[in-house]
Amino acid sequence: MKVKVFQDAQSIAEYTADQIQKLMKRKPECVLGLATGSTPVPTYREMIKRYEQGKLDFSQVKTYNLDEYLGLSKENSQSFYYFMWENLFSKINILKENTHLPSGTEADMESYCKVYEKQVEQSGGIDLQLLGIGNNGHIGFNEPEENFSQHVHIVSLTQETIQANKRFFENVQQVPRKAITMGIETIMKAEKIILIATGKAKAKAVYDTISGPVTPWCPASILQRHKDAEILLDLEAAALL
Ligand code: GLP
Repeated sequence: MKVKVFQDAQSIAEYTADQIQKLMKRKPECVLGLATGSTPVPTYREMIKRYEQGKLDFSQVKTYNLDEYLGLSKENSQSFYYFMWENLFSKINILKENTHLPSGTEADMESYCKVYEKQVEQSGGIDLQLLGIGNNGHIGFNEPEENFSQHVHIVSLTQETIQANKRFFENVQQVPRKAITMGIETIMKAEKIILIATGKAKAKAVYDTISGPVTPWCPASILQRHKDAEILLDLEAAALL
């Protein structure tokens, strides 16, 4: 894994947008794996800016998102579906049918997990997967646990994650307790992975990811075994390295 430290979040956004731009030039029909949370927002802003400048054309690009809360409809402003349309998709020329997010509102969520796994598989493979990281080292919604997860599955969110994510909701009771997420194995199949971490709250998880052992108790540590993973940090997130 390669680790790069930047002055600030904007420099990371520009670097990441450069990588996306290069990929889209080489492969206009590329497949992007996308993440939610506040971390990728500057990158999405940079992608929108470059689209407006005519530097990026998303007309053939396909996207697959990592995760979604259970029980939140697409119209719910806290859903990751809503987030993606608000922060990226509505502002670029991507075709709606080329955007994919797992649904959190299927009657039979267990069998739906297999449907989403298949959809990701049939995309031909993710060329570039963007990741944020939870304060406890989670990627997607793969929380610390006994074993690394494999495929798309349903997870119970830890108290730490519920507390960290309550800032997006009116109160902590409104934070869903469960989510659907790509598994670690699904994520690791991506050709290239870029994990972004900014701010001091991420410093410990970043240290464990890079300098600790590969363990499912810090899910992001698995990236040490990926053939092309880049960890992009601002100074605060890199503070303990
Ligand atoms: C959520 C998402 C993750 C994200 C994490 C960190 O739990 N499922 O994909 O990386 O939050 O969010 P933030 O970037 O807002 O710190």
